Amino acid sequence: MDDVRLLKDVYANDFLIGFAQDRMLPQYEHLIRHFNVVTPENAAKWERVHPQPGVYHFAVVDQLIEDAEKRGMKVIGHTLVWHNQTPAWVFQDEGGNPVDRDTLLARMKEHIDTVVSRYGSRIKGWDVVNEAVADDGQMRQSPWFQITGFEFIERAFEWAAQACPDVELYYNDYGLADPKKRRGALDLVRRLQDKGIRIDGVGIQGHFDIENPSIADVRQAIEDFAALGVKVMITELDLSVYPWSERRNLYAGGLPEDVSRKQAQRYAELFRLFREYNQVIDRVTFWGITDFTSWKNNFPVVGRTDHPLLWDREGQPKPAFWAVLDPDGYAP
Ligand code: G3I
Repeated sequence: MDDVRLLKDVYANDFLIGFAQDRMLPQYEHLIRHFNVVTPENAAKWERVHPQPGVYHFAVVDQLIEDAEKRGMKVIGHTLVWHNQTPAWVFQDEGGNPVDRDTLLARMKEHIDTVVSRYGSRIKGWDVVNEAVADDGQMRQSPWFQITGFEFIERAFEWAAQACPDVELYYNDYGLADPKKRRGALDLVRRLQDKGIRIDGVGIQGHFDIENPSIADVRQAIEDFAALGVKVMITELDLSVYPWSERRNLYAGGLPEDVSRKQAQRYAELFRLFREYNQVIDRVTFWGITDFTSWKNNFPVVGRTDHPLLWDREGQPKPAFWAVLDPDGYAP
């Protein structure tokens, strides 16, 4: 496999090619060389980096950044403000009651200041706010929103910019191919822009599946965000072999050839689309490396065998890999 072209070289004139992982595992070294940017999958989230008031654990992120730099790779920060993987204490006082707006914003500021300024421009860009819009396009009723309204978003972007003026600032969300949800995210970006608050890019999470969303909807999402003048990134890309409504564990013994080919075909279509928009797409990041460690093996069905990525459980390239390597030449 040593003579295989590398994804990052194939797309060098188009966009960065990334993967998510908390550690550079030696057994994946031959796969890691395909990428020129890494996102910590969990290690930089609030619960990991700041599990208790005043207690910060930076060792895993420090190591990942060092390892990335040695390989000449860039690093994306994920994520500063999210409703998930944020400890309950953040939103509560000592009696377990919700804190007031000022207290919550002060905690958020301290977190952002500490984490963003520690790494400065060693991080290319941060997912400043993650998944703040609900599926119906309204604001998600998270504790952040319930306690502060829209303000946490404005202050998060402002305080991240203050903590490091050189770092890029992103809004990152899933389901943005869906017009309803997209409208909410577009409003969010416009609202920041109207107030003169810097936002550099939007991450369209690519948690797609074998059937949905349509290529036309993904195209529309890219166009709509690009029209706001922000960079577009396809973040968290993976392609479940199960349609959303399927809950059986159909492929525990391996992926049938026809499904594998269909998946590859869809990856090829997606990368042809991404290439078409290489003027606005800055980065495409896969959410994981091999099927073995993908989060999709636990979502939406815990313990179900999924096969969403480019390499199989043994780290061997799947048809999906060849499709991404040469989307124009790929013939199923
Ligand atoms: O590390 C512990 C382990 O010690 C413990 O034994 C085990 C038991 O459940 O859990 C392990 O932690 C899990 C962690 O992944 C590491 O594997 C958590 O339970 C599990 O909830 C966590 O899932 C992560 C998920 O975010 C949580 O919301 C996934 O790895 C991660 O891929 C996923 O990533 C998110 C993005 O950040 C934002 N967009 C959606 C995306 C998918 O949910």
